[in-house]
Amino acid sequence: MIDVANMSNKVLIREQYKNTDNLKLRKSLHEKYSVNRTGFQKWMFDQYPFCAGMKILELGSGRGELWNNYFENDTLQNLKMDILLSDFSDGMTEHLHRTYSDRGFFVRKIDITDIPFGEDVFDLIIANSMLYHVKDIDLALSEVRRVLKRDGLFFCSTFGTNGMMQYLYRALDELGIPYDHESNISFTLQNGMQLLEKQFDRVERRDYEDALEITDVEDYLEYIYSMASLQGLDRGNYDILLKYFNSRKRNGCLHVPKEYGMFVAGL
Ligand SMILES: C[S@@+](CC[C@H](N)C(=O)[O-])C[C@H]1O[C@@H](n2cnc3c(N)ncnc32)[C@H](O)[C@@H]1O
Repeated sequence: MIDVANMSNKVLIREQYKNTDNLKLRKSLHEKYSVNRTGFQKWMFDQYPFCAGMKILELGSGRGELWNNYFENDTLQNLKMDILLSDFSDGMTEHLHRTYSDRGFFVRKIDITDIPFGEDVFDLIIANSMLYHVKDIDLALSEVRRVLKRDGLFFCSTFGTNGMMQYLYRALDELGIPYDHESNISFTLQNGMQLLEKQFDRVERRDYEDALEITDVEDYLEYIYSMASLQGLDRGNYDILLKYFNSRKRNGCLHVPKEYGMFVAGL
């Protein structure tokens, strides 16, 4: 039984992200099969308005992969910015410490709903692919607003409701595999603008055009089974799903739509 409400169940989210394995597996599907070869992380990174001495906070950093782009750019390293990476999971925070502490970054365990700083501290705050996990989204966004400088910017990415999950739900419907329709996905491209406008004066949406062209359907199934929101999906359905998705291939590829993008918000 798929429980979509689990997208923002804190216990499940902590369990899913207790180490970096599930996240790594899901990233590799995108890297291997995405049509847009720019890469979502690079596309976002290139839009951040970096400048000298800036104070930056990233929330829900995960494995911190966004910052690979930073180390490829000498100019950025000369800007002497103050960069703090964070996550609420112990496993992720330990990984961030191991990977980034001795490369000039600060690392701290932080829950977005309780950011341990005073008002007006950061010039740039980033929260990528994590707000949809947060149950109390208004509290999370009010915390971001509180610690953001008056002339600062908040960049947050998320998915839309016409992408990979909806494609999967349609398949499960067709196959008669039951799942919970009650959606509690707290932050998407469709509702993000409205939620951000409660806290920020200026909000802009930017979309990233992409899709997956999958040649090996087993990679896709491993991805599906690694998701917190699908923890209840029975492994016994594996062969049925494999056969179904293989039959949907055209010219050797399974075409899976993606809908990703980000919002830029300011006060
Ligand atoms: C899908 S991963 C995204 C990681 C990274 N931002 C990226 O784009 O690759 C979501 C991350 O958000 C973290 N997370 C979930 N809820 C959180 C919360 N309330 N506060 C801080 N981090 C949270 C998870 O531990 C996980 O590392």
